[in-house]
Amino acid sequence: SPEETAGFKRAAAAHAAAMVEPGMAVGMGHGSTAVAAVPVLAERAARGELPGTYFVPAAHFMAEALRRAGLPVAGLDDAPVLDITIDGADEIDPAGNCIKGGGGALLYEKIVGQAAQRLVIVADAGKLSPRLCSRHALPVEITPFALASELRFLRRIGGNPSLRQRPDGDPMRTERGNVIADCAFAPLPDPAALATSLDARAGVAGHGLFVGLASCIVVAGPDGVRELEV
Ligand code: A5P
Repeated sequence: SPEETAGFKRAAAAHAAAMVEPGMAVGMGHGSTAVAAVPVLAERAARGELPGTYFVPAAHFMAEALRRAGLPVAGLDDAPVLDITIDGADEIDPAGNCIKGGGGALLYEKIVGQAAQRLVIVADAGKLSPRLCSRHALPVEITPFALASELRFLRRIGGNPSLRQRPDGDPMRTERGNVIADCAFAPLPDPAALATSLDARAGVAGHGLFVGLASCIVVAGPDGVRELEV
């Protein structure tokens, strides 16, 4: 049920929030699971457990949540090397590769993920999947100038792209002013190969494949919380 899933998300997020230590620079991703870490971090800060710790959000939504909770927010310029980043994911394979970007912040999420010594992904067990793209489309962020050309490329490689829309039917814009094509690939035999070919396209500003980036996956389900080291 949705209530159960929300409970699992909170449990995974609380587990990751407990990994944060005094003085750390902490990247914070986007989405309902990562944001569930904020109240736990705020409680720890209020108890005096996190002196000198500060947070680098990947999205406006997360920045607001951190500020509302009274936690110190900084930019990546202030901390080019983050100690840890906490973020959610849409789909996770047995090797710990992920699809992200359901919330549209994929480019900055990948930046704070790569900037961190440890990327901790928090998720409910429903996100686990034998092969990426079995249950979630792959978001690909495209520079508007290149839209027609990149859509053609994505169709050619079997991506079945559909442009993400706002409720009023206009294309959704990311915080960077780009558009997102959600690509319904068949389950991916080789996520690394697809990531490489997307990375090679100048018009692709980012994509939701996180291959070999996560250090630890925290999964919560009916049997409790476990850490998958990857
Ligand atoms: C945001 O762009 C995403 O990468 C999120 O991390 C992902 O969509 C997971 O979201 P939930 O935690 O809300 O399921």
